Amino acid sequence: MKKRVTKAVFPVAGMGTRFLPATKSVPKEIMTLVDRPLIQYAIDEARAAGIKEFIFVTSRGKGALEDYFDIAPTLEASLRKSGKTELLDVLKSTNMDSGAIAYIRQHKALGLGHAVWCARRLIGNEPFAVILPDDVIAAEKPCLQQMIEAHAETGGSMVAAMEVPQDKASSYGVLDVKEDMGSMVSVKGMVEKPPAGTAPSNLAVIGRYILSPKVLQNLSKIKQGAGGEIQLTDAIALEMEQGRDVFGYRFRGQRFDCGSKAGFLQATVSFGLSRPDLRDEFADFLGAIVPQQQAAQ
Ligand code: UTP
Repeated sequence: MKKRVTKAVFPVAGMGTRFLPATKSVPKEIMTLVDRPLIQYAIDEARAAGIKEFIFVTSRGKGALEDYFDIAPTLEASLRKSGKTELLDVLKSTNMDSGAIAYIRQHKALGLGHAVWCARRLIGNEPFAVILPDDVIAAEKPCLQQMIEAHAETGGSMVAAMEVPQDKASSYGVLDVKEDMGSMVSVKGMVEKPPAGTAPSNLAVIGRYILSPKVLQNLSKIKQGAGGEIQLTDAIALEMEQGRDVFGYRFRGQRFDCGSKAGFLQATVSFGLSRPDLRDEFADFLGAIVPQQQAAQ
């Protein structure tokens, strides 16, 4: 029987330079989409997919992330005393079971692949998920759950894949497709940030992965790749060279690149409009301001 995926790695050691100066003191993952930090969306998605162990790869200056997952007894007591039960429930929904979260440091930002490798001893010898919290995915069924269900059928390693326009492909890892089976493709190669015009397909890898533990061994072998970083895609590409299966999964849902300013703004608008408590007022505001902006241009 295939081992169930119950561990997820959250690489959060990057410097978030695209959000300077905010990220000078606030970790990118604590930045707020409507009223919840990015990391909360990632944790909720992982929990919905049956993840039980949450492994954070952090770095200097990410203390606010650890604090966020601590229980807040004084705040809880104050809300309880003033009868603010709804807020108390919101607060409690962020509490994690004791021992469910582990933190490990990446001492140098050597790349996403290196960050995942730093967690190797906590992962052990079982398939595991990787979630990049700056990719926020709005979906009826959470993206990782879709992938874990598909992975239960296929085994191997699996990456979330999304169609992108040709001129954007060089910002992503891109799949070289062996066979297209609809929601799933089998993959024969992967290229990280291909130079313009050389991408092997329009299927880009985004921040959800289910990986075989063998990928960790490959991460120990590979050298710096695109951008001088140790790339996770290079280690997955080695899997294929070694004859193991890798699949791309076309998830159902909308992905927002919250690591970029434009993506973060789009997510804010979209999540704001999907909230029953904010929708009407926010839609009225947008309905008024957008024509004004267009007329002024
Ligand atoms: P990004 O490429 O978005 O980098 O990393 P970044 O440093 O977070 O942001 P910018 O580009 O400087 O604005 C993708 C994911 O990989 C993690 C990041 O924390 C993010 O979740 N990462 C990246 C690491 O954990 N370690 C690294 O060395 C690099």
